[in-house]
Amino acid sequence: MSRWAWAEVSSAAIEANVRRLASNVVSAWPVEVWAVVKADGYGHGGVTAARAALAGGATGLCVALVQEGVALRAAGIDAPVLVLTEQPHDELPTAVAHGLQLTVYRTEYLDALAAAGGVDVPVHLKLDTGMQRSGARPADAVALAEAIAASPAATFEGVFTHLAVADEPDHPFTREQLDRFDAALDALSAAGHRPRLVHAANSAGAIVHPRARYSMVRPGLAIYGISPGPEVDGMVCDLGLEPALSLRARVSMVKRVAAGSRISYGLRHTFDVDTTVATVPIGYADGVPRRLFAAGGEALVGGRRRRIVGVVTMDQLMLDCGDDPVAVGDDVVLIGSQGDQQVTASEWADRLGTIGYEIVCGISARVERRPG
Ligand SMILES: Cc1ncc(COP(=O)(O)O)c(C=O)c1O
Repeated sequence: MSRWAWAEVSSAAIEANVRRLASNVVSAWPVEVWAVVKADGYGHGGVTAARAALAGGATGLCVALVQEGVALRAAGIDAPVLVLTEQPHDELPTAVAHGLQLTVYRTEYLDALAAAGGVDVPVHLKLDTGMQRSGARPADAVALAEAIAASPAATFEGVFTHLAVADEPDHPFTREQLDRFDAALDALSAAGHRPRLVHAANSAGAIVHPRARYSMVRPGLAIYGISPGPEVDGMVCDLGLEPALSLRARVSMVKRVAAGSRISYGLRHTFDVDTTVATVPIGYADGVPRRLFAAGGEALVGGRRRRIVGVVTMDQLMLDCGDDPVAVGDDVVLIGSQGDQQVTASEWADRLGTIGYEIVCGISARVERRPG
């Protein structure tokens, strides 16, 4: 054991989550699941996540960067891999050499792809239907499809968009985006362009909005068993998705402190009564936010919730264990289950005013990922 802080990642949970999502999106027509494994599989390990997702029935993978696709290929994964945005042109020879599918929204990119030696590279046309992040205007869809058709560098494999508020089930903007997308699909079809894959749904889209499923869905967070937002918690729970990652450590030091003592940088916490403090060797350099103390963060020791006391430091934090017995080497669960207690990434996110995505992506490379 290299250090007393690590993450455990359950491939079985990711596999089961993908299976559950896939069976949930089955409809009158076949819907493919392409699992989003960018950002090192949302902190779970990109290759681990990819293998588990494929075992669970995913037929393709999505990444943000060419290098993330290269890492999958280096691990022997030969499933289709889509890079979700246009990339610097000097990355294109690498993308071509590794058989990655590419996202296109400008004709210059097709020229760059040809210059990079691309021949019949499967491309997906990205349309921006309102998120204002990346993608072509829907009005330009047909012109871009014509450019793809005319380019020897590319074949028109897919067309897609991305939803801004899919995790707010009643928000009218999803319908507006899908209306714009459908109008663009009609225009493409009328011009004779009907790519095999049509996709719009992230996790929340796939779970909440049947209309957004088209012929493929792109779930990310849900395959890791984390809810994309509070308004879809219930549906994530009904689907039986289970968190795949737990963040664990061992107590590295135990001490009794007297009432009136203060603790950690800034001495921001004062003990009201005598108590036992356990030091845990994990800190903000590992992805436990410094402000989790002020936000009321808790971890599990001996099957009970223990308050973080004092600001989280770079490599260590402290827990108030009251008068319960605790010893060096005891198991600490920062995210995960112990006994009948559970702390989730979503709980951290709620406390910190952020989203589960940021919590798991923030667990740093210094934390070893072990099979769990
Ligand atoms: C284009 C695109 N599709 C799909 C996803 C997956 O989203 P989620 O993790 O909410 O399922 C992302 C993630 O940010 C994305 O950028």
